[in-house]
Formats: sequence, C-alpha cells, structure tokens
Amino acid sequence: MVLYLDCDILSQGLNVNVVLDRWYAILSSDEVPANKPIAARRLGLDLVAWRSAGQVALAVDRCPHRDVRLSPGRVVDGTIECPFHGFRYDGAGACTAVPAQPDRPIPGSLVLRTLPARDEHGFIWAWTGPSAPPPGPVPFFDFAGFGWAGSQFIEPVRCHYTRGVENQLDFPHLPFVHRNSIGRSLPPAMDVVTEQEGDVIRGFLANQPDGFLELLGPNVWRLRLGPTWGFLVMAPVDDEQMVYYSRAYQPYVTRGPVAWLVGLANRWANRFVLRQDLAVAQTHPPGPSRLRAGEVLIAADGPIIAYRRWREERSGPLLPRET
Ligand code: FES
Ligand SMILES: [Fe+2]
Repeated sequence: MVLYLDCDILSQGLNVNVVLDRWYAILSSDEVPANKPIAARRLGLDLVAWRSAGQVALAVDRCPHRDVRLSPGRVVDGTIECPFHGFRYDGAGACTAVPAQPDRPIPGSLVLRTLPARDEHGFIWAWTGPSAPPPGPVPFFDFAGFGWAGSQFIEPVRCHYTRGVENQLDFPHLPFVHRNSIGRSLPPAMDVVTEQEGDVIRGFLANQPDGFLELLGPNVWRLRLGPTWGFLVMAPVDDEQMVYYSRAYQPYVTRGPVAWLVGLANRWANRFVLRQDLAVAQTHPPGPSRLRAGEVLIAADGPIIAYRRWREERSGPLLPRET
C-alpha cells in the first residue's frame, strides 16, 4: 500500500484538476538521466523523477523526514537519497535506509508520496488514478515512424495546458494567427469535421480529408501532413503554465548530416509557427477552459467542444487517494 498525494498537499493550496485514470505525458524520456534525480513541476506538484532498477520513479519532491527537497540528492542503488540526512526511498516510496539509526526499525510512516510512472514512447508518463494503472503499454497512436529522422524542441508556455490542447484543435485560427505561414492559403470560411472514438478526437477540413489532426486524450496530439508527422505533448505544469514538447518525423532522409539539417529546419519552422500561436494563447486567463464558461463556441470549434465534453466527463481532483 502506498499512500500518495495526501492532504498535506491539499493544505498547500493545490487542488489539481485532471482527467482521472489516465496517463499524462509529462517529460521527455531524455530529460531523466540514468544516475541523477531531476526536479520538475508538473500536474500542479513539485515532483522528483529518477531511474530505479530500469524503471522510472516519480514522487513528490519532499522528504517525509524533515520536509526538504529530495531532488538535489543522489540516486543510490535505484533509491533516491535525501541530501539532508541520507534517508533512502525506493520507487514505491518505501524508506529503505535511515543512516543515523541503522539498527532500529524504520518507522512505517516514513513513506514518500509517489505517482505510478512509466517510460514509454519516448516520454515519461504519470498516472492520475484513483484506480491503479492497468497492465499493458501506455496507450499511444499507432505510429511506425519512430525510426525515421525526428527532431524535438521544448517550449515552456504561460497558459493552462487545456488552452494549449485547444489551440491545436482550432481550425479557424489558421488563416489569422498563421496568415504568413501555415494558414497562408487557407480561406477563412471552412467546414470542420469532428470525429471521436474513445479517447481520440480527430478534426479535419471537409475538403481536405487526407490531412488531419488528432488528440489522444488527455495530452498527446499529432498532425498528418502527407507522409510527415508532427507530435505535440502538452505537459501540465500548473494553473498558469504548461510545456510543449514538439516532435517532427519525416521519412525522406533518415541519416547523416542532411537528416540533421532537415531536423534543424523542422525545429525552426515548427517553433516559428508555435510562437505565432503563443502570442495569442498566452492571453487566455489562467486556469482550465470550461465547456460553459461564458465563451461562445461556434460550429467550426467542433473539436474543441468535443475535447471539453470528453475532459469534463472524466475530470476530478488528483487527490487524496490510496493505491
Ligand atoms: S530531511 Fe530528508 S533525510 Fe532528513
Ligand atoms: Fe496554430
């Protein structure tokens, strides 16, 4: 039994609203090195991530002994060692060493609050609960192109992640926000089609059904444009911030300096387009979007309406709970 995310966190004023019983992509796998803990604020919590016996571990970045941050500590034999008095905790949150009194039993209440975590598809995932995570791989798009040439950039943003998701489900902004880039040849009048199957919401233009975008709820998105694919993860930080992870894959040139140059060009172009989005998206008020919150949505907002409905049917506070 691991008690995690208990009422201490509520008392810190954090009441994180998330989609329940889902995996959230929160970090890129390469951000968590083999032998060093890293600190990351995600899902409204200050978290620490480290690698433990081939698995990734995620915990609240607070030592249960004297309430300091664990992330400046060390990884020792798959445990995280607190920098203050050297207590060690395994990936399930159990305390395995109290160096000041090695011959005494370890108090049962010395439990680090952890979140179920996985390292799959190139991302670190956190499970929201309240149920235990299901066995099997983290759901992801059916995509065979991870061996193609890919490029990534990471962009911290001052808006709630739900606004970041919606920006990527928004068709009518294209000819305005991106009038000198990807929306240049798009007329403002458009017929947006929305499809939904389980956690996947797909949008496309009725006259261009071959190019489409899809959200795999809660926070992974992809865009198909011909044979190239773009992926975005909208990692929640808190009510006012998120982080975009942008990846692009192309099958044309997959090795050598030319592939590297294509990756560089893709990064530059995608960042240029994303920053056009941010100039507008960062002017939303803080906090999540809501289905009924005074905004007047129109038919062309179909994918956004579907997303809000999907999310609100499944959302709730991240805590408290046990597993
Ligand atoms: S505060 Fe972490 S071991 Fe004492
Ligand atoms: Fe955009």
